[in-house]
Amino acid sequence: KIIPAIMSGGAGARLWPVSRETHPKPFIRLADGKSLLQHAFLRAAALPDVVEVLTITNRGLFFKTEDEYRELLDIPRLGCTYLLEPLGRDTAAATAIVSLHVQQVYGDDAIITLFPADHMIRDLEAFRAAAVKAIALADAGRLVTFGIAPQYPETGYGYIEADGEDVIRFVEKPDLARAKEYVASGHFYWNSGMFCFSAGTMTKLMEEHCPDILEQSRKSLLAARQSQVASGTRVDLDEENFSQVPKKSIDYAVLEKAANVAVVGCDIGWSDIGSWNALADLTGPDDHGNRINGDTVLYEAENCYVQSSDRLVGAVGVKDLIIVDSADAVLVAHKDQAQNVKRLFSQLKDTG
Ligand code: GDD
Ligand code: MG
Repeated sequence: KIIPAIMSGGAGARLWPVSRETHPKPFIRLADGKSLLQHAFLRAAALPDVVEVLTITNRGLFFKTEDEYRELLDIPRLGCTYLLEPLGRDTAAATAIVSLHVQQVYGDDAIITLFPADHMIRDLEAFRAAAVKAIALADAGRLVTFGIAPQYPETGYGYIEADGEDVIRFVEKPDLARAKEYVASGHFYWNSGMFCFSAGTMTKLMEEHCPDILEQSRKSLLAARQSQVASGTRVDLDEENFSQVPKKSIDYAVLEKAANVAVVGCDIGWSDIGSWNALADLTGPDDHGNRINGDTVLYEAENCYVQSSDRLVGAVGVKDLIIVDSADAVLVAHKDQAQNVKRLFSQLKDTG
């Protein structure tokens, strides 16, 4: 049995003003009208032998998430279970909850494919082939990662040193000097953030490397309340226990420490959409290099990314700009400064 689980949460500071706490990155819509979350669901649902799709997210995002899935009218009739967190405790807690839930319902041997909802994959055929390989390795007891050929020394990713399909070491978010060294060596992949493992393998690894996260998560799942909702089942994690789970990412809590990690190298058109430039790249350019998402009108504009939501956006005689309109804020940025949008976001947070 294959149980895909989608993790969705986090603020996405570099995609302000469209991404923020009440509207995080997974809800961002691409030029095809679908959100990153909807794409993640469709990719998950299309895997072989899928019984149901789990989603672990903040309970405040439940209705929004359910709406997104119900919009996908062409999805096959699949079970959906929503595991709802009262607050964010990062991805190790989310992984523990998913693994314990699957272990209870389907047993130790059920295979989980854990997917983030904040990236894009362009080559679906290649993705499926990689997932099938990963599932076979997970069946043999491995914790499987999906490796992407690194393009530059990004410090916001995990790095995987590999010897064939065996992982020699996993390093989460190295500093720039080490990232440069890894990329230059030719022996490292970027970690895509997707993982595949059996419920038994993950709970055993957590028992070994982060027992406190596993045990506290177990308590909150035991004390959870369940109810039927329009599109499936809703499991509300218990706040008293869940808030005590140590806050750590799965990369630091398990991947850096585990011994039996495998990697499937894949060329799947992966993009983390870490900035407006990466999002712009998903839309084809017009004759002047402009990329447009929504209702816009341009005159003598060149090499710009323009996105509107409810209003028409016009731009005249501008070059190399990112212009993003949302219901209550407008962003104007130079393309070379796309990474600094997160600084704007933290300034806003500081000043309330
Ligand atoms: N349910 C839930 N709860 N989901 C969460 C939480 C949480 O508390 N925190 C983050 N997520 C979701 C995010 O929405 C995203 O889809 C996924 O989990 C990964 O979390 P990020 O916070 O975006 O991680 P990251 O981008 O810093 O790093 C991870 O992804 C990189 C690739 O994009 C790591 O796995 C890196 O090693 C990897 O390179
Ligand atoms: Mg991310």
